[in-house]
Amino acid sequence: MKPTLEAIYTENAGAQEVRYTVALEHFEGLYGPGHVFFFRMPGRVNLIGEHTDYNHGYVLPLALEHDILLLARPRADATVRVSNVEANFRPFSFTCGRQIPAAPTGDWSNMIRGAGQALARATGQPLRGMDALVVGAAPFGAPRGAGLSSSSALTVVAAVALLRFNGRAMDDQSLAQLCAEAEWYVGTRGGIMDHFSLLLSRRDHAMFLDCRPDPDGRYRHEHLLLPPGYRLLIADSGVRHENARGHYNQRVAACRAGVELLRPAFPGITHLRDVQDAPWELLEPLLPEEVTVADLAALESVLDDLPGITSDTSLLVRRRCYHVWTENRRVLAAADALREGDAIRLGEQLDDGHASARDNYGISCPELETLVALLRELPGVLGARLTGAGWGGCAIALVEEAWAGEAVQAIRRRYRTAMAPAATGTEQEVFSVRPGQHGGFAGRVDGPTGRFRDQSANGAHRQREVKS
Ligand code: GLA
Repeated sequence: MKPTLEAIYTENAGAQEVRYTVALEHFEGLYGPGHVFFFRMPGRVNLIGEHTDYNHGYVLPLALEHDILLLARPRADATVRVSNVEANFRPFSFTCGRQIPAAPTGDWSNMIRGAGQALARATGQPLRGMDALVVGAAPFGAPRGAGLSSSSALTVVAAVALLRFNGRAMDDQSLAQLCAEAEWYVGTRGGIMDHFSLLLSRRDHAMFLDCRPDPDGRYRHEHLLLPPGYRLLIADSGVRHENARGHYNQRVAACRAGVELLRPAFPGITHLRDVQDAPWELLEPLLPEEVTVADLAALESVLDDLPGITSDTSLLVRRRCYHVWTENRRVLAAADALREGDAIRLGEQLDDGHASARDNYGISCPELETLVALLRELPGVLGARLTGAGWGGCAIALVEEAWAGEAVQAIRRRYRTAMAPAATGTEQEVFSVRPGQHGGFAGRVDGPTGRFRDQSANGAHRQREVKS
């Protein structure tokens, strides 16, 4: 299905049409007139199920309406040239192939280099490149580094464009898996949640995803309606943790250590998911509170793909595993609550999930604690928690729709007051959202006529004038 702007953005379609038009002018200014293809990829927020995906557990993310646009035109050679409408993201180019040299750590181009390399390896053939422009600025783009997957969206949108320009088709699940691995290029051993959410989410629904593949390699997922009459509030703490990548890999390492420690009692175990149905009382004595990598000879070999983990890295195995074990249960309970339209029960899972993320997984920070506490005090809020990898980024709250507008204003005011004088001076990003639509190809403009063709649900083309 190639959704129209109305289907993607509903009441905001008018403002989006202006955004698409301005983006087109920018693109033509850079690369000249001609065919231009539009792709979009949303950000995502995770309702619950934190750090469970790489343990083959359950997650419950949803796509945002906030998105990144990629305007692009195929090239005859393998060069990929990318600019950004925001001047602080510098233009770059590379040759698309099986071994693409990385830019320095943290450089935004790596998200797209990783996509190019993964696709070149997957197809096993030389790829044609593209000239591209990225449009992801506020207010339509998701805040960066805030745990809303704006970086993953770059990888995925570039992969979608390159696939199309190379005449390749791939189903969404396979593409999501490929993009998840493509992102390992930047050094984090992340899971599949973000990419599945970006490519498979459905408007107004959260997606219950079982991150353990079936024997045939497919992932089971179910779209669950967010209870009507409720919204999600997303509030950015403004904190960007410098070493989030290192801490993230440490959490992955602690879970893998848990698997190694449980293996004698559970032969065949590959992920924590394998002990999900065992009583905690059975698991607890097998998991020491703390080990170093050097303590466990078997660990060295199962951790060597995790940058930043050394033999004296300390791993709090028991409590990390306890978080994962309990979090999976909370996701199942939250999914049940959604099936039953029980917003109160859903809110309770969010609150409990936050406590575990803080106390067991150690991924909160003082600013997130303040933010979550303030969110819970607001009228109409049924539960709140940090979301995403942690150590900064955003908190979410489930709020009655009637209170949502007021809650946005109140949290901005109260968080600013609570954080002063450490406040960064920038306006805090807070918004209330409905779940958005997955990303993909959004339409094209043919030639210098300045006509944007978006594709309707039944596949027919509809033309509409854009100002040029
Ligand atoms: C990051 C990763 C995800 C997931 C979350 C934590 O967003 O990209 O795969 O592990 O952290 O739930």
